[in-house]
Amino acid sequence: MAYALGTRPEFIRSARVLRLLRGDPRFELLIVNSGQHYDREMSDAFLEELGLPDFDVDLKVGSADPAHQTAAVMLGTAAVLERTHPDALCVFGDTNSSLGAALAAAKTDTPLVHIEAGCRSYDMAMPEEVNRRLIDHASQLLLAVSESGAQNLEAEAVPGRIVVVGDPLFDVFAERAPAAQRGEPPRRGLLTLHRPENVDDPSRLEAVLDEVTALPEPAEWTFPVHPRARRTLPSRLASSLKLVAPLGYAELLRELARADVCVTDSGGLQKEAFWARVPCVTVRRSTEWTETLRAGSNELASVGDLAEAIRRALKKALPVEFENPYGDGRASERVVEVLEEWLRARCGGVVNAH
Ligand code: UD1
Repeated sequence: MAYALGTRPEFIRSARVLRLLRGDPRFELLIVNSGQHYDREMSDAFLEELGLPDFDVDLKVGSADPAHQTAAVMLGTAAVLERTHPDALCVFGDTNSSLGAALAAAKTDTPLVHIEAGCRSYDMAMPEEVNRRLIDHASQLLLAVSESGAQNLEAEAVPGRIVVVGDPLFDVFAERAPAAQRGEPPRRGLLTLHRPENVDDPSRLEAVLDEVTALPEPAEWTFPVHPRARRTLPSRLASSLKLVAPLGYAELLRELARADVCVTDSGGLQKEAFWARVPCVTVRRSTEWTETLRAGSNELASVGDLAEAIRRALKKALPVEFENPYGDGRASERVVEVLEEWLRARCGGVVNAH
């Protein structure tokens, strides 16, 4: 079986699934890295710390505009699939790497498996929403991380088989998350921004940063700067902002454990904050992680209402005990078992990469 990935969130989310697949004699695994994320701090640091198995193929597509990037991943992956004829290709999530690889599967008649199928923001202006819808409709096996994901897929009448497995990201989080260390003043915040609508225009980024730092609290914000935001950072920054390079996963979880509030436009961090019991403010118009909104731990806000949302978040006391809609920490094991059963039913015997 082949498994395609290429960005920081896919490295993190896939860590346990790939370790299990690599160690399982029932699978002959071929891992294809697109190279969408290539900086050491965006890729190598994660691979080492997460114990990801070595990649078998590196397409080295790097950065480009979305159309060229997706096309380069499609062409590179198609060549690998044509050469190796795997029984299936597995992709995770909604990045350009995931879509490019999924299109390669469709065009080479390779059965496609989508992990994290069915999450929806219903905002087609978000490139990831377009990506995930296209991948879902091209997939033969759709592994949803929550019940709402499966319901969304059923409502769209996708042709593939749908199974709710839980969220492999929660497995990776639960393995590593340190105990909470907040409560003592000064209050701390964790800030991450990388989405094009927040960081590509320097005046927009400045407005977001001004509003995040407008209140006297938190007195200190840890702000890991994504390479996309590096180019547009204002020259004058509030003294409460502590800029750092993109963090490794353990470091990020440590910062989250110390934070009283998290402000982000990332997808994964909304859920990680929910699991870590840190109130979150999401700088977006929509989110695919609707369970976190319903649970009251997360709120959408933008320039104009951001400071007020942070003030509200700081007043929240999230109960330590909570219901987790994203599974029990064994989703990766379930992914492997469902894959094995599905592939055995299709082809019998050891599942081949070649
Ligand atoms: C991508 C994903 C997004 C995910 C994010 C996590 C898509 C459509 N978006 O967005 O869903 O949340 O990854 O980070 O696939 N760059 C570097 N070094 C790198 C990688 C990127 O300098 O290793 C810079 C380049 O200038 C590049 C820019 O960051 O043009 C954007 O990178 P790209 O991979 O296109 O998108 P992300 O914004 O990272």
